[in-house]
Amino acid sequence: MRRGDVSVRTAVPRPCTTATGAIPGRGAVAVGGVRQTRGVRKIHVIGIGAGDPEQLTLQAVRALRSTDVFFVLDKGEVKSDLTQLRRDLLDAHIPEESYRLVEARDPERDRGAGGSAYSPAVGDWRSARADIYERLITEELGEEESGAFLVWGDPALYDSTLGILEEILERGSVSFEYDVVPGISSVSALVARHRTGLNRVARPVQITTGRRLAEGFPEGVDDVVVMLDAHQAFRAYTDQDIDIYWGAYIGTPDEILASGPIAEAAPRIERLRAEARERKGWIMDTYLLRRRPKQR
Ligand SMILES: C[S@@+](CC[C@H](N)C(=O)[O-])C[C@H]1O[C@@H](n2cnc3c(N)ncnc32)[C@H](O)[C@@H]1O
Repeated sequence: MRRGDVSVRTAVPRPCTTATGAIPGRGAVAVGGVRQTRGVRKIHVIGIGAGDPEQLTLQAVRALRSTDVFFVLDKGEVKSDLTQLRRDLLDAHIPEESYRLVEARDPERDRGAGGSAYSPAVGDWRSARADIYERLITEELGEEESGAFLVWGDPALYDSTLGILEEILERGSVSFEYDVVPGISSVSALVARHRTGLNRVARPVQITTGRRLAEGFPEGVDDVVVMLDAHQAFRAYTDQDIDIYWGAYIGTPDEILASGPIAEAAPRIERLRAEARERKGWIMDTYLLRRRPKQR
């Protein structure tokens, strides 16, 4: 069924199930953070991991099973693989199609906006997203129902869902309660695949973006995780004593890993990245830069 830019896949209504639950012998669980009150819409923000369906937590599975309506934002053709992965997760973990899947088109972001125009462009995009989420919650979620947003990786890391839900609550046109189910982030998945840690003994680690790394290596840290880097900012550091641990499409069948001293690994990563991007039409990669200790 299509209504404007929103599509609803299956419509097998089922009674609202409680989001609260308990693992036998473990008492109340965090998914149950939402108290069930009559007439208040419930929303789960569920971290689904960064690509490997086996990295869905038991808590996430339980939240999936207590959901009546899933909201999925489609980012367009190139990222339809990610939308499909969400559908596959539902098929794998919810035995019967006893839920509704509501899909809407993600608003386009002005990716050309740089410098002082960057933050306003992100703000506009977030508000456009908030409009869509607000409409989905108001029109597609019954007052006795539970809805869910399936968030890539962990909702706490470079994701706007929580901020958007707060913005909608502040607007005051629709009320709901929500809880958050943590997911395995691409950062955790990256270091696990490289069999290394994020920090060294008693040292800090920083997570930042490619945009920030292009402005300079963060001060006071030797271990820096870089996400959202469309321009391979690591190339500016090839003359330094740094090791890089890089991964693209981590956890998916297309996964590519590379690591080594940055001077040697950077050209290899550039080539692998360009080939993969050409082949698939999009790429998601993350890397850890680790400064080697100075020789005394
Ligand atoms: C908008 S952020 C979302 C991060 C997500 N919430 C998480 O916890 O991983 C998107 C960025 O995450 C990283 N990313 C997400 N999934 C990835 C994957 N499977 N492989 C490599 N990087 C990934 C990339 O740096 C990408 O640009």
